[in-house]
Amino acid sequence: MTTQQKAFLPYGRQSIDERDIAAVVDVLRGDWLTTGPMVDAFEADFAVASGAAYAISCSSGTAALHMAALALDFQPGHYAVVPAVTFSATANALRYCGSEVIIADVDPATGLLTTDTAMAAIHRAVSDGIDLSRIRAFFPVHLNGQCVEILELAELAAQTNCSLVFDACHAIGSDWYDLDGNSHKVGANLGGAMSTFSLHPVKTVTMGEGGVVTTDDADCAERLRRLRSHGITRDPACFVEKSQAFDSDGEANPWYQELVELGYNYRASDVHCALGRSQLTRLDAFVSRRRELAARYDSLLTSYGNFLTPVARTASCNPAWHLYAVLIDFALIEKDRATVMRQLAAEGIGTQVHYVPLHRQPYYRQRYGRTKLPGADAYYERCLSLPLYPTMEVDDVDRVVDALAGVLSK
Ligand SMILES: Cc1ncc(COP(=O)(O)O)c(C=O)c1O
Repeated sequence: MTTQQKAFLPYGRQSIDERDIAAVVDVLRGDWLTTGPMVDAFEADFAVASGAAYAISCSSGTAALHMAALALDFQPGHYAVVPAVTFSATANALRYCGSEVIIADVDPATGLLTTDTAMAAIHRAVSDGIDLSRIRAFFPVHLNGQCVEILELAELAAQTNCSLVFDACHAIGSDWYDLDGNSHKVGANLGGAMSTFSLHPVKTVTMGEGGVVTTDDADCAERLRRLRSHGITRDPACFVEKSQAFDSDGEANPWYQELVELGYNYRASDVHCALGRSQLTRLDAFVSRRRELAARYDSLLTSYGNFLTPVARTASCNPAWHLYAVLIDFALIEKDRATVMRQLAAEGIGTQVHYVPLHRQPYYRQRYGRTKLPGADAYYERCLSLPLYPTMEVDDVDRVVDALAGVLSK
């Protein structure tokens, strides 16, 4: 088979099998297409898989981030710290609330927010005249599936009186280690923190489109459930307008529901949850396969150290690699990234850049001006995500590395 005839390897793709199809078809044949039992069943399984007490499903990772910001009562005049290297949705969720984003630098070797870069962002904001009391949360991102330093950031959040929302959209299946070396699942939240997940097709498990917020706080979980469904409650204990809510015997009226705050229709249907639940049964297998393929990349890429390295590894995490990102010194090889990507595509290899940093996006540039974030710029200028998904073969990894070596040396 010639190179041209070989299958195209995208940078990521879903792995759907007959069990997933059967699970979806079962729901289609049943009584509930939405707000049915599959939603509860998926949420129960997701809570176990992520290590959280509560998992609240929703229509996307973006909706999950927005719901988390709403549950923290983000409003105009409030600020949150968000790393520059992330998908725009992390920051956009705050803007949906009318709140402002303090774009923080990242470690140039990992792309991750650190306590130092978060503190530097706060100092910059305060020197720009922002009142410290208006900075209300950090939204760190577990980029590529690698966790930020969870305990250090939790300590910083406590010191600065801030909440924590971990954008774990890349990280279902990742584990992090505490100071005693004990391992915790990525959604095992500390105190009142929330974690948000995406189940978009390129992610480790998919529901087509979908998202989840996890929390250990029962009240927060209840609020999230209400926010994803218009802000309406059907719980008589929460009814405010007693005279219209209850009959003369004190029984709640059977039709009655109350809109207690402004929410959204961010629900995930039973159809989506059936797919997500079926996929979750293979989470461990997907994660092991991703780790195996990443290890193969690692072993093949050691010899390119002067101009190409995998993103640096953090000590306190066992990542469920969502992306396999490398850092390439394009200046040293005297070839620009676009040319490398096009030449790889011609060899049947898809790559992508995750991400154009927030401070370079026109929307945020117009709003906050030009911000100097050297760590994020250095990461962005060098990063490239190579193909990684469970149905890839080890031979495919070898093919990618051979093609990359060829393209970089030409
Ligand atoms: C880091 C990060 N945050 C948020 C999102 C938004 O998730 P969704 O596409 O499910 O809305 C994504 C999705 O690509 C993401 O990668």
